[in-house]
Amino acid sequence: MKIIVTGGAGFIGANFLQLLVPRFRQHDFVNIDNLGYASNLASLEGIDDSANYRFERVDIGDAGAVEETFARHRPDLVVHFAAESHVDRSILGPRAFVRTNIEGTFNLLEAARKHMPAGAGLFHHVSTDEVYGSLGEVGAFTEETRYDPSSPYSASKAASDHLVRAWARTYGLPVKITNCSNNYGPRQFPEKLIPLMVLHALERKALPVYGEGRNTRDWLYVDDHCEAIWTVIERGQVGETYNVGGGFEAHNIEIVRRICSVVAEETGCRQSELTDLITFVGDRPGHDLRYAIDSTKIRRECGWAPRETFESGLRKTIRWYLANRRWVESVRTRDYDGWIERNYGGRGDHLK
Ligand code: NAD
Ligand code: TYD
Repeated sequence: MKIIVTGGAGFIGANFLQLLVPRFRQHDFVNIDNLGYASNLASLEGIDDSANYRFERVDIGDAGAVEETFARHRPDLVVHFAAESHVDRSILGPRAFVRTNIEGTFNLLEAARKHMPAGAGLFHHVSTDEVYGSLGEVGAFTEETRYDPSSPYSASKAASDHLVRAWARTYGLPVKITNCSNNYGPRQFPEKLIPLMVLHALERKALPVYGEGRNTRDWLYVDDHCEAIWTVIERGQVGETYNVGGGFEAHNIEIVRRICSVVAEETGCRQSELTDLITFVGDRPGHDLRYAIDSTKIRRECGWAPRETFESGLRKTIRWYLANRRWVESVRTRDYDGWIERNYGGRGDHLK
């Protein structure tokens, strides 16, 4: 089988390829990515010289390049990860989100319609629970929850989900969609909550918690998400959507405290030295209060269940960042420092 993976130099895509390229030597994996700021070819070390893997630099916003790539490879399966993925960046600069997440998905769907084998093949779209908007203190998102996105990021992902379903209904394109909760794990770009806090704790920098830290996310270890995607590809129904979540919920402030506790244990410092760095800063506009996933459907229909607990997954993640300082340095470019200044510079401390 020929498999095109989009965005395979990013966090989840690279972990997906790290798991599946060695497992399926009989399949050919083509990783297409434009090598944007969140990508890192070092995330592919260990598989990048495999005979069943190749990388091609392609911008999915470039219709001609996507068309040419699909014409050449004629994939049996497309696993679509490529996206602009950070909510705060979408607030400060939404245009790239419309271009990549909406137009990019459109370009891929058009190329898939033309160049995937007729009556066969599969377009698997990787999406987020953020399309459903925010929950109150109780309840969980099911596959029937109404779309109600809050941020430019989640609105662009919602639009991409709608395009994927429309291409299935209108043109008969075989598609599946997974909507997953917040991921964490190795190789995550340190702009998202968990890797940012881990690195700041290691470097004794302020730990910037938005608002009062009472927002809640449902956290899933990245390998569990990747296995869920593969399980849906193998066992899910064509045309269906599956919610994926770890069932572990916590307030952001609790996550940050746990990070401090594990970093203190792993490095042999006092926990209070790290918790003293916690700084409450100005809130994110349109900040969704709570996400929680009801993953009954994927568990029942596909037999998937997460393997990692938050405790074990967090420890693995922190050990990975401690052992991979070279990877960390390679992503912290001048652009990264500029982002930290742009996003956190104006927030100030508001509670401390
Ligand atoms: P990421 O930002 O780490 O990686 C995205 C990758 O896509 C990068 O390698 C980037 O270079 C590439 N890319 C961006 N624009 C591109 C373009 N125009 N052409 C080609 N490649 C492009 O993101 P991630 O966290 O790995 O997320 C992957 C997918 O999973 C996204 O679709 C995201 O919406 C979805 N998702 C993420 C999470 C999460 O918690 N991270 C949760 C649920 C769903
Ligand atoms: P994030 O990792 O950006 O994921 P998402 O916004 O897609 O859920 O943020 C997770 C939560 O952590 C979210 O409620 C915002 C909060 N947060 C902070 O409090 N401080 C930070 O520096 C970041 C990046 C996020």
